[in-house]
Amino acid sequence: MATVGIIGLGYVGLPLAVAFAQEGCEVIAVDVDPRKVAAIEAGESYIEDVSSEQLRGVAGRIHSTTRYASLAQANAVLVCVPTPLTRNREPDLGPLIDATRSLARVLQSGQLVVLESTTYPGTTRERVAPLLEESGLAAGRDFNLAFSPERVDPGRTDFTLRNTPKVLGGLTEACAERAEALYGLVCDQIVRVSSPEAAELTKLLENIFRSVNIALVNELAMLTDRMGIDIWEVVEAASTKPYGFMRFDPGPGMGGHCLPVDPFYLSWRAREFDMATEFIELAGQVNQQMPYHCVAKVQRALNDAGLPVKGARIVVLGVSYKPGVGDTRESPALKIISLLRELGADLSYHDPHVPTLTDFGLSSTDLEQALTDADVALIVTAHPTVDHDHVARRARLVVDLRGVTRSSQVSSVMRL
Ligand SMILES: NC(=O)c1ccc[n+]([C@@H]2O[C@H](COP(=O)([O-])OP(=O)(O)OC[C@H]3O[C@@H](n4cnc5c(N)ncnc54)[C@H](O)[C@@H]3O)[C@@H](O)[C@H]2O)c1
Repeated sequence: MATVGIIGLGYVGLPLAVAFAQEGCEVIAVDVDPRKVAAIEAGESYIEDVSSEQLRGVAGRIHSTTRYASLAQANAVLVCVPTPLTRNREPDLGPLIDATRSLARVLQSGQLVVLESTTYPGTTRERVAPLLEESGLAAGRDFNLAFSPERVDPGRTDFTLRNTPKVLGGLTEACAERAEALYGLVCDQIVRVSSPEAAELTKLLENIFRSVNIALVNELAMLTDRMGIDIWEVVEAASTKPYGFMRFDPGPGMGGHCLPVDPFYLSWRAREFDMATEFIELAGQVNQQMPYHCVAKVQRALNDAGLPVKGARIVVLGVSYKPGVGDTRESPALKIISLLRELGADLSYHDPHVPTLTDFGLSSTDLEQALTDADVALIVTAHPTVDHDHVARRARLVVDLRGVTRSSQVSSVMRL
């Protein structure tokens, strides 16, 4: 049974570590964050998709550490570090380069290295391979190298690592074969493509597809707002077409670590090829406009009630970027809160998954009390455990950015 090294124990790395350990592999789990290493040691999960019970169930097989030296014992090493953007919205390969350099120092002949982090086509071959080769070992000859994008959708239970097909591309045929054998332990279906570049671009296509389609429906939502047409009614009706249409819902904008970030990895790379990826840029612009549109909607709702935004008590319901999870990275709720605060509103929030928003000095409030006190309840992320019909009945005024109050007959609701 393989010994698997995992670098970066976040939303991607920790579930992978647990999956391989559950299949009987020894896992060497490396992270630069000593708190994560300590939490794993203590059997305390900090990722919603992995329960502490699951972690404790494989405690004997996951060896967490901040020391890269331990990776020398692994047969395969999977790299799952963040790939964010810089302030200028360019790829920030800093964490990936740091991790690759550290790995190069302990790389062993015969090891398989797989990059899982989302990135632009060419990263594995042009950036990762040369750094690993500083070890004196040659990629494709002395060690194997592949790219296999993670497709995890946090909070999702119907599609998991096991039943979501895993795309991979190796530097050589042998590299792909080894990676396929490894992932076959934890995934039912492997989709091999001809190169790491094809695998890198596959992941970006998937995310850009979502970003562009969300932008399209968001643009229509802004138009239907002016036209006095209910966008939710239109989306629902269009979704009855049994072919040639895929449903995307409008909302306050895109959040999470992937959709607002990954498409720009490709647009940056495209510039090297004298190409402007206009769909990507346009989708980014439209989606970035949405929090402003939503704030204008709140202003209108308050205006209709004869209230100014300044001093209005607004409770935001749901501040994570998607239902059922506590991840607030790039969440449009944060932008909306700061825009409303700039206008002088008195903000509070309720989110069963996010106990505090330290940057705003806020803690999640009791829902009933908040509904009693607030002038407006603003539904930004519709967590399944919150009864939004009840919210619509109880609140003085509701602005619903997710279309979850459509069945309620209450008149004091304004929807996106
Ligand atoms: N979160 C998702 O839903 C998702 C889905 C698919 C793909 N991805 C991609 O997977 C990658 C990882 O994403 P994530 O959400 O797991 O990130 P994350 O921030 O949750 O976890 C990354 C971990 O890497 C650690 N780290 C950073 N630099 C390191 C280094 N030099 N050495 C060792 N550890 C280091 C961090 O401390 C952190 O624990 C990204 O490229 C992301 O785009 C994420």
